[in-house]
Amino acid sequence: MLLSDMREHSSATAPEWESLSALRADTPGCEHVIHFNNAGCGLLAAPVLQAMQDHLDLEARIGGYEAAAAHADEVREFYAELAALIGSGPDNIAFAGSATHAYATALSAIPFQRGDVILTTRNDFISNQLAFLSLRRRFGVEIVHAPDLPEGGVDVDAMALLMKEHRPRLVAATHIPTNSGLVQPVAEIGRHCREFDLLYLVDACQSVGQYPIDVEEIGCDLLTGTCRKFLRGPRGSGFLFVSDRFLRAGYEPLFIDMHGADWTAPGDYQPSRTASRFEEWEFPYATVLGCAAAVRYAREVGVEAISRRTPDLARRLRNDLDALPGVRALDRGNQLGALVTIAVDGWEAAPFKAALDARSINSALSFRWFAQFDFGDKDVDWCLRLSPHYYNTEDEIAEVVAAVAELRAAR
Ligand SMILES: Cc1ncc(COP(=O)(O)O)c(C=O)c1O
Repeated sequence: MLLSDMREHSSATAPEWESLSALRADTPGCEHVIHFNNAGCGLLAAPVLQAMQDHLDLEARIGGYEAAAAHADEVREFYAELAALIGSGPDNIAFAGSATHAYATALSAIPFQRGDVILTTRNDFISNQLAFLSLRRRFGVEIVHAPDLPEGGVDVDAMALLMKEHRPRLVAATHIPTNSGLVQPVAEIGRHCREFDLLYLVDACQSVGQYPIDVEEIGCDLLTGTCRKFLRGPRGSGFLFVSDRFLRAGYEPLFIDMHGADWTAPGDYQPSRTASRFEEWEFPYATVLGCAAAVRYAREVGVEAISRRTPDLARRLRNDLDALPGVRALDRGNQLGALVTIAVDGWEAAPFKAALDARSINSALSFRWFAQFDFGDKDVDWCLRLSPHYYNTEDEIAEVVAAVAELRAAR
């Protein structure tokens, strides 16, 4: 059953089918759709669905607070599983309702002042860029974007020089942006952050579950992610890793609540010792338990094995699509992951996606306003994003390529 048990193959061919069919049988959605929208939301595996359904049943039977108390040990497993996945301690993890919420809560802990610099990349996620612009509008921070290499992806040497020049209050990098398959060298950036002793925030939303993540190796103070994408967990989930260094320095979110702090006297409060200071009291317990099950599932399948198979499937898809007349693969950079983005001549965005929907092929669209720098450089207004995962098959890739070819030829 474990992908890691499969024989080593540079490509995913026949000997892997036995295990794959078990993994697909565990994934109810595989019967209904060709799901190439894992960068949006992965398909739930049966044990993940079961964990959530069991908890909702218990809430209905005995009450919501009582069900949470009954499943307290299982809830703690969320922290243990995620910590094991990213190489942290359980006390360094905070649950959040979305990756964006986790990111905003983390940013709110940094007391930005006029003239402070945020150093980031041209490919950081849209909502992160909006948060930086909002900080600029309210507090007068300066946003500096490190330049890209000619082949795509951030120029780490240039970024290090900018660190030296500006001594930024924060360095922020998105591991894999939403708008292309680019994988940014977050550990290399982290080494420079440690050298200059700078706060470092990493958005690992698209990479967690797709690649091994080790917060020590990355050298970050803060890292955000979601469980719903390549971890195949439920919607409405996110998390924040907070380093011991950051916790010990006393950073706390701007709006801390009764879960994150003790109200120790009428005029005083004490933040919690752990990353729970970044959480809120109210929790979607069924979702948290679904996340625990999803992370456990990913670890059982084996993230190393996933990180070999998933980008490999994407590479085949990208190459085959790029070879079609009137179709252009847009992904650029030294390392490319499982997000495949294409421009298709002769089509508008919505009808093209609708034509794939009609064939039960799940995909997503990105627009210029998702990625002002990247799409400006590529001179495209929209692209179709296809994001396979390890449970997808070569037959599905062939079917998707044939569908795109047929649609393109029809114009
Ligand atoms: C790179 C990246 N960061 C952050 C997010 C935001 O995640 P959420 O929707 O959970 O807030 C996304 C969502 O697509 C993303 O692709």
